[in-house]
Amino acid sequence: MRLGVLTSGGDAPGMNAAIRAAVRCESARNLEMVGIHRGFNGVIEGEFRALDNRAVGGIIERGGTILRSARSAAFLTPAGREKALRQIKDHELDGIIVIGGNGSLRGARWLEEQGVPTVGMPASIDNDIPRTAMSIGVDTALNTVVDALNRLRDTAVAHERAFVIEVMGRKSGYIALMGGLAGGAEVILLPETSMTLDAVVAQVCKGVLKGKRHSIIVVAEGFVPSDMESADPSAGRVLTDALERDGTVETRLTILGHLQRGGSPTAFDRVLACRFAQAAISWLADGEHGVYTGLQNEDVIPVPFEGVEDTCTNVDLDLLHLANIVAH
Ligand code: F6P
Repeated sequence: MRLGVLTSGGDAPGMNAAIRAAVRCESARNLEMVGIHRGFNGVIEGEFRALDNRAVGGIIERGGTILRSARSAAFLTPAGREKALRQIKDHELDGIIVIGGNGSLRGARWLEEQGVPTVGMPASIDNDIPRTAMSIGVDTALNTVVDALNRLRDTAVAHERAFVIEVMGRKSGYIALMGGLAGGAEVILLPETSMTLDAVVAQVCKGVLKGKRHSIIVVAEGFVPSDMESADPSAGRVLTDALERDGTVETRLTILGHLQRGGSPTAFDRVLACRFAQAAISWLADGEHGVYTGLQNEDVIPVPFEGVEDTCTNVDLDLLHLANIVAH
């Protein structure tokens, strides 16, 4: 049996650990592994290279992905898709493992529907993939956010300032919520919640007037105040400007951006990557496909690809309530 593996979409820390584990679990079952470079673009262009146990040595601790990644526009076109199927046939692949986020798992689903046995592994710092409590990369990104909040609190306290910290998450507030809760943020703003700009300013000022001399405000990039159509140029900038206009507290903005996607994966992400890879390989080898790996109640379970179409942010609004209680 000859299986291909690719990483696609936004990279997530732990993708390398997943590739390594997939190759080695496969080799333990005497299967052959082929690395596909640059995501679905590489399928279309036939960028297939054999992978063995030695080729994946020394990567468990590395962020990014040795296979490279891409958001493939070509794979969304009929011509690109037709070429991709031809390449898979010409290279005699018996199955494909797709490591990536929502869009990537949709691509995986399409391959499965065309008769290519496919299994997905959720990897996205947004944690917005349905029916899995965690995706590869989330824990590392959260720890990066918490580390940044610790550092920014030092300077916020020293200068008695408010800091607005914009984190990733266009549609999902998971990083903002969990990072904000773990980092002790005074205010957390998510795409899933709605608040006017004035209400946000009032909430920050309330803390200041109660004697809080500094504030940490964590905002997801996808937050839009309910009285605005969009937050231009960014959610963080809009809030910072509003707080500066109000004048109650001096305010600075930090946009964490792609810092959150890099770095060495945490132990949690490495273990999750190994467990997802082991499940993916054994399912494919045993003829089970059309599914992705999901973490539910500590178990790795197969989730049918159809589920990936559901909207999910894994955001528990009770935790937002808790964050508001413990921050004051
Ligand atoms: O999907 C992961 C993610 O990091 C989002 O949180 C973010 O909005 C997006 O990718 C950024 O994508 P890009 O790297 O293509 O700018």
